Amino acid sequence: MTIELPRPRLSPEADALSAHVIVVGNQKGGAGKSTIAMHLAVALMRMGKRTGALDLDVRQRTLTRYVENRAATIAAQGANLAAPQMLDIGLSASRDADVADMEDEAALAVAMKRLAATCDYIVIDVPAGDCHISRAAHAEADTLVTPMNDSFVDFDLLGAVSTGSPDEVRPSIYSEWVWECRKRKAQATGRAIDWVVLRNRTATSRIEAKNKQAVGDALKTLSGRIGFRIVPGLSERVIFRELFLQGLTLLDLDREGGGLKMTHLAARQELRDLFIALKLPGFEGEALRF
Ligand SMILES: Nc1ncnc2c1ncn2[C@@H]1O[C@H](COP(=O)(O)OP(=O)(O)O)[C@@H](O)[C@H]1O
Ligand SMILES: [Mg+2]
Repeated sequence: MTIELPRPRLSPEADALSAHVIVVGNQKGGAGKSTIAMHLAVALMRMGKRTGALDLDVRQRTLTRYVENRAATIAAQGANLAAPQMLDIGLSASRDADVADMEDEAALAVAMKRLAATCDYIVIDVPAGDCHISRAAHAEADTLVTPMNDSFVDFDLLGAVSTGSPDEVRPSIYSEWVWECRKRKAQATGRAIDWVVLRNRTATSRIEAKNKQAVGDALKTLSGRIGFRIVPGLSERVIFRELFLQGLTLLDLDREGGGLKMTHLAARQELRDLFIALKLPGFEGEALRF
């Protein structure tokens, strides 16, 4: 099987990108990419970092709408909330697939360069599925965050369990092309991609405990084989769905006053644990501010 990837950009501009790039990606929809991208962007701003964001999911535009909803809340309530700097990426209208790929990749490079001029961090939300711009973005990642739903259906995206035994897992196509991206990035820039996988929407009930354990065991086996780190995940919580309309994240709730529910505190602690485990640069020895 040949895996076609964007060529590594060897231009000095690509090397000079000073911002740390976090790509939130996997090929499945509904895994929590946009939700996590927004929470990470807000967490970075709370930690005092200038943060830009790109929404490459130009069909769903979830992250764009999330930030627009936040702007509306700021306007309506005069809320003191920071919002990431966003740039729109218009995808190529060319009917020639090769031309379209080249134009999309160029548009991504321009947007990243513009954001890097004023930002310490760039968070990129990529669409589900397999498209050229998504691969191009993966190849630019310093940190690749892959959320997956806590089930073997989603596990299949990372590794195929052929016989039902976690010891028999083999890398999936997505894992193989992430591997390829890492190799090419290392060759082009000498820098590595830190690939982290987290389980999202894990069940809080005991009934699901057995499945949770089985998915966890299989992930551990695969992480050793294809080289990702497993970081603490997020539980299933209704609050994530409710916050979107106001453009708020869990990290903003403490600003509303009136105390936080226990479940929100627990959710925020999960986000803190995730943030710490990401080991992003520029926070050494700093206390969390959310
Ligand atoms: N931990 C969670 N608990 C409950 N709902 C969640 C959680 N994470 C995401 N969701 C919800 O799941 C849906 C899909 O999430 P989204 O971030 O849009 O995924 P993706 O970008 O991967 O398609 C959204 O309705 C979102 O609010
Ligand atoms: Mg999305």
